[in-house]
Amino acid sequence: MTRMAIFASGSGSNFQAIVDACRSGALDAVPALLICDKEDAIVVNRAKAEAVPSFVFTPKSYKNKKEFESEILLQLEKHKIDFLVLAGYMRLIGSTLLTAYKGKIVNIHPSLLPAFPGLDAIGQAISYGVKLTGVTIHFVDEGMDTGPIIAQKALEIEPNDTQETLQQKIHKIEHEYYPQTLQQIFSNKGEKIIR
Ligand code: GAR
Repeated sequence: MTRMAIFASGSGSNFQAIVDACRSGALDAVPALLICDKEDAIVVNRAKAEAVPSFVFTPKSYKNKKEFESEILLQLEKHKIDFLVLAGYMRLIGSTLLTAYKGKIVNIHPSLLPAFPGLDAIGQAISYGVKLTGVTIHFVDEGMDTGPIIAQKALEIEPNDTQETLQQKIHKIEHEYYPQTLQQIFSNKGEKIIR
């Protein structure tokens, strides 16, 4: 079974959805490690509650990205990780991890990429006034929310939607769609959905 490391920086609702899907048998994979770059992130408590081992680090205490990614790589090797799943990890992946896990890193982003990459994609969509937004799951490369798209789901923005209501709707989609898409990738149906 695929052993995943889930990378997260915040509340970890996607982390939770992925772990729940593994526990229920809907996702045939092991949530073997959490990698988190914020000591006080809620996701760290979720990992404890689920007995998922975690590696929590403070980027500022390393000289540069290469140094902390080398440390992460040691952890990934120690936990025999096959695949990296980014779920609200608000940091670019560098060449150390990209080289070691080539083609085996995916990310979820709360917009229809290439629209609204980067921070606060939901706020960006509301400010721009688009009528349609959604969720994108893609392979990770060196760019910010770039890399080949695996799957996308669209969602209409209603006139009375606020940042909060839209975020709830997007999260609801993400929590179902991310585990489902991972299941497709791990069961080798990935190539059917990748352009
Ligand atoms: C998710 O909506 C995810 O799509 C987004 O961060 C949120 C994390 O929520 N990721 C990005 O914006 C990546 N650029 P969570 O911590 O509750 O899972």
